[in-house]
Amino acid sequence: MQLKIYKTHHDLSDAAANEIVELVNCKSNPVLCLASGDTPKLTCRLFVEKAKSQQLDLSNLTFIGLDEWVGVPPENNGSCHYFFRHELLDPLDFPVKNVYLFDAMSGDLQDECRKMDNAILEKGGIDLMIVGIGMNGHVGFNEPGVLFGNYSHVIDLDETTISVGQKYFKTPVNLQKGITLGLNHLQHSKKVLMLANGEKKSGVIKKTIEDEVSPAFPASIMQTHANGLVMVDEAAAGLLKH
Ligand code: GLP
Repeated sequence: MQLKIYKTHHDLSDAAANEIVELVNCKSNPVLCLASGDTPKLTCRLFVEKAKSQQLDLSNLTFIGLDEWVGVPPENNGSCHYFFRHELLDPLDFPVKNVYLFDAMSGDLQDECRKMDNAILEKGGIDLMIVGIGMNGHVGFNEPGVLFGNYSHVIDLDETTISVGQKYFKTPVNLQKGITLGLNHLQHSKKVLMLANGEKKSGVIKKTIEDEVSPAFPASIMQTHANGLVMVDEAAAGLLKH
């Protein structure tokens, strides 16, 4: 794992967007997996700008959504689905056939997990995974205590996730469960970027990098990834020893 500190959120978002550009330019059938949330929003916007100005050919790019709130419909503007559509896929006229998002309204969520795992396998694995970090150290919806060996699964959300998650919704929502790729997918992604910005993330970034690797703090798994890069702005790096 490597750590890179950028002056601002914009600088780190620009660097992350460039990583996606490089992926598209260098690989014939690239597979990108992205988190939703406040952190990667600017990365998405900058990538959309770059893709348009550089006229990138995205026809062979596969897009995988990292996670979703169970029971929240795609048209709800707090859903991950809505985020991916509005921040990335629609502005790029992204081919629908290359998009894999969990249907968190499905009556058979186990089947959703199976379909996602099979799709990732068939596509030859994830080339670039870009994740954020929750205020309890979660990655996607891999909450504290999760097994590192998990593939896609449905999980009870942690209290912190339920309360912090309200920020995405216009009116309070009953959040109980999430559906998410597992940390096994992260471990087997060819490259992983973890993004964090702002002082509020400084505590969790310190734990991610300086504490021992443990399922009690899922983001610490980044320490074990040979091609993992933690990208933070100066505010999020504020509590690091070095
Ligand atoms: C959310 C999502 C994660 C996201 C994280 C941080 O609950 N499940 O995929 O990375 O929490 O979100 P934010 O970037 O808004 O701080």
